[in-house]
This record gives sequence, C-alpha cells and structure tokens, in this order.
Amino acid sequence: MSKRALLQYLELIQESGIDHVFTPAPVSAEDKIKQLAALREENLNCTKCPLAEGRIELVFGSGNPDAKAMLIGEAPGDNENKTGLPFVGAAGQLLDKMLAAINLTRDEIYIANIVKCRPPENRNPAPEEKIACLPILLEQIKIIRPKIFLIMGLVAAQTLFAKNENLGWFRTNRPDLMGTPTYVTYHPAALIRNQNWKRPAWEDLQEFQKTYESL
Ligand code: URA
Repeated sequence: MSKRALLQYLELIQESGIDHVFTPAPVSAEDKIKQLAALREENLNCTKCPLAEGRIELVFGSGNPDAKAMLIGEAPGDNENKTGLPFVGAAGQLLDKMLAAINLTRDEIYIANIVKCRPPENRNPAPEEKIACLPILLEQIKIIRPKIFLIMGLVAAQTLFAKNENLGWFRTNRPDLMGTPTYVTYHPAALIRNQNWKRPAWEDLQEFQKTYESL
C-alpha cells in the first residue's frame, strides 16, 4: 500500500469514529531468525502430504529473515531436495542473474516456495499438497513481514491469489497480496525454455526494482 493510500485509509477510519489502530510491535532480526528456525524445526519431519515420501531435505527457505522483499517460487527440484536450499539448480543460476540485474543478491531477500518438498518428476504440486504446505509459507510471511513480493511463475501466482487467471493477467493487473505490493513474473525455468519471455520478464523486474527502491 502506498503512503498516500495508507493516509487516506487512516483518515477514513478516523472519520468513522475510530481513534486507535493497533499495529504489531516491531520484531528484531534476531527474533525473526529464532522464529523461523523454530518453524523449520517443527516441520522437518512433516508427513501432512505424500510429498514427504520423496523428501531428502525439507526446502524451508533461505535468505535475509529481515528482508524487505520476499520471493516466492513453486516447489523444490532435484538439486534443492538434495541440498535443502531453494533455487540452486539451473533455474537458480538464472535467478541469481535476474537478481544481479536489479542490484540484488540472495542475502538481501528471502526466498521460499509454495511447497517445501519436491514433487515427483518435478510435476506441479497437487491442490492437497499445496493446502497442506501453505500454512508454513503464511507463517514465514507473518514472521518476515516483507514490504514487497516477487512471485515467480503461474503456479505460485494462481495459488497465492486463489485465481485461475493466466500469467499475463497477474503481470498486468498486479493485485496486492495481503495489502503488500506484489509483482508476478515468469519462472526462471520457463525463461530457460523460452528465450522470448526474457524481454517481458526484464520489464517486470525493472518495475519491481522501482517499487523496491522506493520502499
Ligand atoms: N523452482 C522453484 O520454483 N523453486 C525452487 O526452489 C527450485 C526450482
């Protein structure tokens, strides 16, 4: 939400007779680290969905727990399952280049996926797998309190917005996620498959960067 929109919203609340609004108390980076570690620990041996059967490592998420930006992908692949880290395969290498192009490194952002365990043969996660896993992501968002989201790919966008639109719709309509500015762009794995999408992805990243740097 922009500062202007927030001010208008607060004025509206005041005009309707409410003179107190409660905002969550600030949380230190150290506390966020502790809360994320506890959440990871709680879910290391999760068996809430069949993806647990193929799990070598839970791919919880990584990066700066106090990040301004949170990047959300779809699901771990083979390399991620082996290392426990998100986006470490070919798509991850391209992601690093995409981030570098907008002056960001992994240490500045937090990266997580919709599901934390690898779907067999890298198929899309099934609805019941996403439903089982989403509470972890929501808790991560609650702890990190990002000021902006970058959503990688259609599966993540459709899941987070619970909307069956196509990628173009999300890229151009740019709905907020939980009142937070959100940019949706192509998944790096899709960009590896289709070079023609690199130009529009670059345009999305530049828009994201403008907002990120203004926050
Ligand atoms: N693709 C994703 O969406 N996430 C990863 O962690 C790796 C590949």
